[in-house]
Amino acid sequence: MKITFAESLPADLRATVLPVGEGALPDTLPATVRDGAKASRFAGKAGQLFDGFAEVDGTVQQIVLLGTGKGDASSLERAGAVLSAKYLTSGKKALGMDLSATGIDASGAAALLLGARLRAWRIDTYRTTLKDEQKPSLTEIVVTGAPAGSEAAWDDAAAVATGVEFTRELVSEPANTIYPETFVERCKARLEGSGVEITVLTVDDMARLGMGALLGVGQGSIDRPARIIAMQWKGGGDEAPVAFVGKGVTFDSGGISIKPAAGMEEMKWDMGGAGAVAGTMLALAKRKAKANVVGICGLTENMPDGNAQRPGDIVKSMSGQTIEVINTDAEGRLVLCDALTWVQQTFKPAKIVDLATLTGAILISLGKEHAGLFSNNDELSEALTAAGKSVGEKLWRFPLAPEYDKLLDSQIADMKNVGPRFGGSITAAQFLQRFIQNDTPWAHLDVAGMVWADKPGATWDKGATGYGVRLLDRFVRDTLKG
Ligand code: BES
Ligand code: MN
Ligand code: ZN
Repeated sequence: MKITFAESLPADLRATVLPVGEGALPDTLPATVRDGAKASRFAGKAGQLFDGFAEVDGTVQQIVLLGTGKGDASSLERAGAVLSAKYLTSGKKALGMDLSATGIDASGAAALLLGARLRAWRIDTYRTTLKDEQKPSLTEIVVTGAPAGSEAAWDDAAAVATGVEFTRELVSEPANTIYPETFVERCKARLEGSGVEITVLTVDDMARLGMGALLGVGQGSIDRPARIIAMQWKGGGDEAPVAFVGKGVTFDSGGISIKPAAGMEEMKWDMGGAGAVAGTMLALAKRKAKANVVGICGLTENMPDGNAQRPGDIVKSMSGQTIEVINTDAEGRLVLCDALTWVQQTFKPAKIVDLATLTGAILISLGKEHAGLFSNNDELSEALTAAGKSVGEKLWRFPLAPEYDKLLDSQIADMKNVGPRFGGSITAAQFLQRFIQNDTPWAHLDVAGMVWADKPGATWDKGATGYGVRLLDRFVRDTLKG
């Protein structure tokens, strides 16, 4: 979706969107529109929309009233999203939007447009039989009467939107298209020339580093070898970076502890954490964030095979700690533990935030409204929670405690990779904590309920939501002043 700003709307558009606050129907509307809006109970509530027509100077004009509610960022975003959802496949190619009489400020304008852009994203790569009337038609919104500073505010928001869209693309693509090597290729292609420095570790590199836990997961995928990608954005002088670490299991069959067939296709998005990290790095680079951030993705498949790791195998992690693999389907933590050790040794980060579609149990606890937050640090937790709240990517904190940690003790190795059935999301987090050195502020976000949607939401359609990008971007703005 292209967003442009103009002094006045091109005469041939013939469709003008007028944002209207709650109870603020303008007196200047043509009578047909005003009466029609009233008759259909349009009250300017966030997300309400009234499609009116009026004859203006001898031509019929379409006038769309778009409710913006109380005019706060989330109402404006929602309004923009409703607009896109309604007109995306309407046959209309462009819409005008007149902000002149709305009182919306520059950041409000950006929120409205961000909602419109995010909701318009979809992936049609694999559809070959779409009828013309099913194809997206709306490609442009021309804005007039925008307050001073709107273009700059939009450029900034558009950078974030680009990141969210990249994440959605990675998450939506099937596992025969996106696997560790192609995930890396797409990151390289998208980040080329952005100023982000990329380092890639191959299986040989990881073997030399002693990453037995991550490599054990990838052992059943000879033809789709594991990778780690590190993406460094140095926008903030010589401060220690913040590290974002993503679980990138490009397909999780469960391995030898194989998953049931029903719903297994969903495990193509078991790289949603890594996807969010990649999208965030793109967003930060696009908006030239004044912050030092390194994004790391641990990438592998988890497949059954003659070479695959077996339940009961013992692997040695890069940290030196040994792990008894009770269940090969608890693979995310095995990938993350080596990625976490490597990031600490290599980049000496001041803080670490990992994102992972780690447990089904988090869906049982929180459903699809909050991601789970686990942390050794209150300040970091509060900053992440606040960031999530302000962009509508909510977090809910869970406890960590030695009693939970103990549940991972193994009879034969330093730890097992699973605890008992109850508290499964917490023991998964406890496992990760065993790899955090010197109490470095660390937070783990279990995003298993958030990266994929079965129904359209505030600013997304069914499918990949892009969850995490806006949250991390906001966190960088708030805490690193970047
Ligand atoms: N990727 C899954 C978690 C998951 C489940 C994400 C459903 C999204 C939707 C993870 O690797 C997994 O299989 N976890 C197991 C852990 C168990 C074996 C301790 C689970 O949650 O069942
Ligand atoms: Mn699994
Ligand atoms: Zn998994």
